[in-house]
Amino acid sequence: MRHQDELKRSVGEAAVKFIEDGMTVGLGTGSTVRFMVDALGERVKSEHLSIVGVPTSERTREQANGLGIPTKGVDEVDHIDLTIDGADEINRAFQGIKGGGAAHLWEKIVAINSDKNMWIVDSSKMVDELGTFPLPLEVIPYGSQQLLKRLDAKGYHPKFRMNGDQYVTTDSNNYVIDLHLGEIKEPHALALELDQMTGIVEHGLFLDLVNTVIVGREDGPQTIQA
Ligand code: A5P
Repeated sequence: MRHQDELKRSVGEAAVKFIEDGMTVGLGTGSTVRFMVDALGERVKSEHLSIVGVPTSERTREQANGLGIPTKGVDEVDHIDLTIDGADEINRAFQGIKGGGAAHLWEKIVAINSDKNMWIVDSSKMVDELGTFPLPLEVIPYGSQQLLKRLDAKGYHPKFRMNGDQYVTTDSNNYVIDLHLGEIKEPHALALELDQMTGIVEHGLFLDLVNTVIVGREDGPQTIQA
């Protein structure tokens, strides 16, 4: 296994220790969360845990169900105790960029409906300032070429996310535009601006949402209360 994958696995395994019998748990998306869901599947099997997972993507739902973890949709549960998700960048103020896996709309819906949110990352995701990682937007296909032009005029260097010559589509059948910003000096101001632009369903800035971050480091997982 690659070294970075070892770090991802270590935080995935550390995170599932926070899950208790009877909990409803939001299950994020991505390669780090994949290790966490594997570890949760093992606990469910060996400890006969009674938990319900709320997946943030079809990929995660399939993985969880394949491992015998029961799942429900976000609208089928009363509340979510804890959501465990990955992130693409986290700054010193514990603000994050998510959406590298095109799942940030469902991820944000699950996150804002969770009592607590935990992010699990390898140490490469910890940054001084957000913005080196392109900021994902989920956009409605109708009018998206015009939206791209408006974002371009603002100097945000937008690019449709493509898979060969096909537009990448989300689980809600929308497109993804990535903004190549370089640095984001004022995340809250940018989030507000993007919230107000017609055609953008959701952006990947996750601000003031996370409670706990587990960082995979050489000497073991480090748990930080945000
Ligand atoms: C999915 O859209 C993302 O928000 C992921 O949570 C994020 O990209 C982290 O993914 P990795 O664990 O694969 O880096």
